[in-house]
Amino acid sequence: MSMRTPLCDLFGIEHPVLLAPMAGVSGGVLAAAVSNAGGLGLIGGGYGDADWLMREFNAAGEARIGVGFITWSLARQPRLLDLALARNPVALMLSFGDFKPFLHQIRAAQTKLIVQVQTLEQAREAVDAGVDAIVAQGTEAGGHGGTRATLPFVPAVVDIAQGIPVIAAGGIADGRGLAAALALGGSGALCGTTFFASDESLASEGAKQAALSGSGDDTERSSVFDMARGLDWPSDWNLRTLRNTFTRQWSGDIVGLRENLAQEQTRFNTASAAGDLDVAAVIVGEAADLIRTPQTAQATLRAMISQAEDRLRCLCRYVGHLKED
Ligand SMILES: Cc1cc2nc3c(=O)[nH]c(=O)nc-3n(C[C@H](O)[C@H](O)[C@H](O)COP(=O)(O)O)c2cc1C
Repeated sequence: MSMRTPLCDLFGIEHPVLLAPMAGVSGGVLAAAVSNAGGLGLIGGGYGDADWLMREFNAAGEARIGVGFITWSLARQPRLLDLALARNPVALMLSFGDFKPFLHQIRAAQTKLIVQVQTLEQAREAVDAGVDAIVAQGTEAGGHGGTRATLPFVPAVVDIAQGIPVIAAGGIADGRGLAAALALGGSGALCGTTFFASDESLASEGAKQAALSGSGDDTERSSVFDMARGLDWPSDWNLRTLRNTFTRQWSGDIVGLRENLAQEQTRFNTASAAGDLDVAAVIVGEAADLIRTPQTAQATLRAMISQAEDRLRCLCRYVGHLKED
């Protein structure tokens, strides 16, 4: 198996696939599993808990891994960046907010900077700043995101990227999606949902089962879980999850949720602690249709690479066939 793209050279990896830095899900063991299988695993720095972050770096052992932060949250506790950079991550990914205040420090540490974007305006800022790689995230993605769809958004970002490697994200869960990402001009893919139910993921067993039996049809974007969690996310982004009783009750009635917030936060916290997924969030994207089997991250990555190679070979034959006609 071999499929080299500029992304492999940039990060010194064998396969052009990155594990998304999923808050609460991508811990050190999962990140190490993806890296040891030839991709690049990113620990999900999330909303910033220094002890958690250090524990997860330790859990990754000697593996070459990276880390990702939610930028607006990192701005409130910049010390986390010092801690992360002290662990010499292969790459640091910033998403959702102004990355520029952190640029100097990341460059000084000689760590590669990946910026995840949801609009062309954000992509232009990343290009102007000369970041090392850009993740173009489509709305199909699990977790927070914007409104652009992966299929037209990725090539539009490639067109303005001036040679900076573009990594496609949002809805890519198998080799067909990876082959499509490369066909769009991307240098690889960043995947969250497909690794959510991995053996090594920190998601609860109940959430993994719900993800494996869920469908993209059953997902929606809303801000109800951010309100329930007391997270003041900027309105540019909302959260794709599986639908459940809680989203059905409140996603069409944000005013009502705000009026009942204290009571609903208690209900949400109680349900989350008890693993009651009628109320608690299962954060996956439209690619939930494509994940059906509990397996190791290595098995997922291997299957993805081998299927992408098959698809690309098959498509090459198709072009040859057209030529002959
Ligand atoms: C459970 C979950 C948690 C996520 N948490 C984060 C996060 O903390 N920071 C971040 O930059 N992206 C986060 N994302 C979004 C990913 O970075 C990525 O864009 C997305 O997973 C790609 O789409 P996919 O889920 O279809 O693979 C999360 C995604 C999921 C599924």
